[in-house]
Amino acid sequence: MPSYAFFHKQFILLPEAKIGVMTHSLHYGTACFEGIRGNWNSEHQQIYLFRLKEHYQRLQNGCRILKNNLPYTIDELCQITIELVAMSGFQEDVYVRPMAYKSSEYLGVRLHDLEDDFLAFVVPWGPYLPDKAKCGISSWRRPGDNVILSQAKITGLYINNALAKTEAIESGFDEAIMLTSDGQVSEGSGENIFLVIDGKLVTPASYNNILMGITRDTVIKLAQNELGIETIERQVDRSELYTAEECFLTGTAAHITPVAEVDHRKISSGEIGEITRKLQKIYFEVIRGNNPKYVDWCTAVYKKDH
Ligand SMILES: Cc1ncc(COP(=O)(O)O)c(C=O)c1O
Repeated sequence: MPSYAFFHKQFILLPEAKIGVMTHSLHYGTACFEGIRGNWNSEHQQIYLFRLKEHYQRLQNGCRILKNNLPYTIDELCQITIELVAMSGFQEDVYVRPMAYKSSEYLGVRLHDLEDDFLAFVVPWGPYLPDKAKCGISSWRRPGDNVILSQAKITGLYINNALAKTEAIESGFDEAIMLTSDGQVSEGSGENIFLVIDGKLVTPASYNNILMGITRDTVIKLAQNELGIETIERQVDRSELYTAEECFLTGTAAHITPVAEVDHRKISSGEIGEITRKLQKIYFEVIRGNNPKYVDWCTAVYKKDH
């Protein structure tokens, strides 16, 4: 099955989409991106793109910050994405990577007087993390401009996350947990983090240098609506990770991934906790378009004759 890209305003085969070596964003991190999951439902013979619009709203935030004049409306970006995934014809889980970037082949650190462009591509993509993750606190901190960090995925800001992820893997962990510069828990290298304390969900707040994750928001809503469990958004101390009843990571790539250990300390028994398991079950039904209450979050890709 070929992967396609939307590149220079056209749909082309992914291997044919190439950028020049002088492209501004490659040198200075002047791009913003999204990660969108398309979840395959074999019974429906359908791929559902999850919370498509919300991803493009966040991309639009990034464009405002980077002075990128995105030449498409959010509805147009959604349409491009649906067409892109439909033409690739996959019958498995996929991942869409849209990016708005400074496309000028020009040297010089700045945001102004540069051309902007938009690209997107789709690839098949299964699980990102193991069924239960071992995490380590990173020596790399999550840098701290709350607005830029929380509202957009800007490529240049991902360097600390990349340093943290590699440090974690090289130390025998599956994922890094980054702290803020004042030592509070922030998030994983590509995920938000939740704890279960006294039967309630606790998660770092927007002022803890987190990305305001779409999966985070989904989990907060599903926990409240389906399980009657409240989420407290607050500052989280590192040691609370060690003593929590349960812990899990959330992200488009990672879905809901239970955390078995932090810094070589088991979370409770080290097995998947009860609330985490319940949330996973509800979440996977929702993202595959199997829960009628939440179909508005799911965009079907393939046109059906019936
Ligand atoms: C740094 C970071 N935090 C959190 C998340 C989770 O966000 P979302 O649930 O919107 O994918 C991601 C992934 O997009 C991320 O890169």
